[in-house]
Amino acid sequence: MSSQSSRRRFLTKAAIASGLSAHLVHHGFAWEPPTASATKGPFYPIPEIAKQKYYDADLTRLDPQSPVAQGDQILVRGVVVGMDEKPLDQVIVEVWQACAAGRYNHPQDKNDRPMDPNFQYWAKILTGADGAFSFRTIQPGKYPGRTPHIHYRIVAPKRPELVTQMYFESQDEFNKKDGIYMELKPEQRKAVTVGFESKPIGSDSKDAATQAIEKLPTGHFRIVLGPTNDSKATQPM
Ligand SMILES: [Fe+2]
Repeated sequence: MSSQSSRRRFLTKAAIASGLSAHLVHHGFAWEPPTASATKGPFYPIPEIAKQKYYDADLTRLDPQSPVAQGDQILVRGVVVGMDEKPLDQVIVEVWQACAAGRYNHPQDKNDRPMDPNFQYWAKILTGADGAFSFRTIQPGKYPGRTPHIHYRIVAPKRPELVTQMYFESQDEFNKKDGIYMELKPEQRKAVTVGFESKPIGSDSKDAATQAIEKLPTGHFRIVLGPTNDSKATQPM
C-alpha cells in the first residue's frame, strides 16, 4: 500500500471516529463525496419518447444527415467514478434537456415556446472502461422558474440510481436565483456546475468532423456514485 493510500485510510478512519463525515476531509485525502441527487422533474422521457429511434450521443441532430438543431453547440466530456475515484465501466448515462427555446419534448411541458423538430432532446450513452462518456448538444434554453440545466440519470450495476442536474458556470446570475440549485450545499453546487471553454484546434491531420467537435466549447462533468448495493463487494468505509 502506498503511503498516500494508507494516509487516506487513516484520515478517513480518523474522521469517522471523530464523528466527522468523510465529506469534510475530501479535499485532503479521504473519499470523494457522491454527486448530489436532484429531482427528476416532470419532463423525464416517458416510455413513448424513450422508444424514439434516435438517442445517440449527438443531440444536435436526429441523425448525421438531418438538419441541425437551433442553438449554440457544446460538448460535454464526463466521467463516472466511485467514491474511491475508480472509473466505472458500462454505466448507462441518460441525459435530457430543453431545446434552445426552453421547451422539452414532453406532453407535460405546457409552455408556449416552440419545439425544435431537429433537436434530439435525450440521449442514452454507455461509459467505457475508463468511465468516460461524452455527448454533443446545444446550450439548453431557460424556461420559467429554472436556470439552464441538463438532467442526468445514471444507472450502474448494483448501485442505487443517481438522478442529478448539471449547471453552467456562465449562468451564475440565474443559478443564484434557482431554488433547486440553491438548496444544494456550496460544495455540492460546485461539483455540478461546469465551465465550458473552447480550445484551439490541434492537428491539421484530423478530419473535418473531428475538428468540428474539438473546437466546440467543452465542459468536464465528474459524476461520483455512492456505494454499491452488493454486500460482498469491497467498499470504502
Ligand atoms: Fe429541467
